[in-house]
Amino acid sequence: MSVVDRARRVLPGGNTRTTLFVPPHPPYAVRGEGAIVTDHTGHQVIDCNNNYTSLIHGHAHPEILGAATEAARSGTAFGLPTASEVALAEHLRDRTGIEQWRFCNSGTEAVLMLLRAARARTGRDLIVRFDGSYHGTGDAVVSPDAPGVARSAPDSVLVLPQHDLEALTAAMREHGDRVAAVLIDLMPNRAGLNPADPAYVTALRELTRQHGALLAVDEVITFRLHEGGLHKQYGLQPDLVSVGKVIGGGFPVGAIGGSADVLSPFVPAPGAVSWGGTFSANPVTMAAGLTALSLFGSHEIAELNRRGDQLRARLRDAGVTVNGSGSLLRLMAPDPTDLWWNLYRRGVLGGTNGLLALSTAMSPVHLDQIADAVTAVLGRGADHRV
Ligand SMILES: Cc1ncc(COP(=O)(O)O)c(C=O)c1O
Repeated sequence: MSVVDRARRVLPGGNTRTTLFVPPHPPYAVRGEGAIVTDHTGHQVIDCNNNYTSLIHGHAHPEILGAATEAARSGTAFGLPTASEVALAEHLRDRTGIEQWRFCNSGTEAVLMLLRAARARTGRDLIVRFDGSYHGTGDAVVSPDAPGVARSAPDSVLVLPQHDLEALTAAMREHGDRVAAVLIDLMPNRAGLNPADPAYVTALRELTRQHGALLAVDEVITFRLHEGGLHKQYGLQPDLVSVGKVIGGGFPVGAIGGSADVLSPFVPAPGAVSWGGTFSANPVTMAAGLTALSLFGSHEIAELNRRGDQLRARLRDAGVTVNGSGSLLRLMAPDPTDLWWNLYRRGVLGGTNGLLALSTAMSPVHLDQIADAVTAVLGRGADHRV
């Protein structure tokens, strides 16, 4: 029996992650090496998905593997804290200037923890977020009409249109004294991967301060774009950030960062927020993450962003509509599933919505091959033959 048939028997729809499903079913990965993934049929593709932007150095990077293996040899998880979480928190502090950190196992969980922190710190209930931005799958950050979401969830969430300063100002005027946090992704992938307007971001910071609300920036995807996260590029000082993906070196991870004051509700004491996580801050993730980030300093970030900008310019010259900034690109196509399969058959693995994330494992030849495949599918006069 094929892996597909076996999968459909034991997993609803044949896999665990809605976000990577493409009809009729995605291929199953069997091996990743550098920039290349091999699937269960033996087909090889250049990995521009990189586990939804998290594998900044591609697959099986020897130094990251070495760090993870060494950590695992000393124990994969403990019912005690370890020095490895201290080391990664120190690294994150040094590269962002954000004082304190708290780890978990995914970006979804990081956003949940961020919302808990904001509500606990302010004693307020309301969260403001923006329509079309993805922040994982917690009730507060998905559509209130989505199946399985508590009908009461929208009571404590205000969803505003993207980049509409008038709507934001009016909402803060009316509800500002109830707002715990405004949650923003400065370049939201699902909303088209367009960077936020700096003047809007400045106004948002001002408004949140005026109304005593926290400004929370979701950097789960965008952290890779600047040594301190995309907010640094805006000169922005958020009260809270959520991160994930690249900071785990390819292992499950999430984290929030903030000042000691903002994160004070987590300091164990009577009345404090109680938040565990059996595998949170496990030493394998912490060691792999620290190594991956150490190999991704300002020089490497600038170089990868430069390659991304070059690729984007080349694709635009070829007539492709492509958004994003630096090492993150989003191909805009009428039928994302068609696009996904057309690219996959031509040897390029992207995201199911046209997202491409570069890795340091890609060579100039890989980048040429990616440009050729995308141009063949979406460029001027593309034949769309599979
Ligand atoms: C901006 C943003 N926030 C949160 C998440 C959720 O992260 P995870 O998939 O690790 O739960 C994602 C995932 O893509 C994301 O892009």
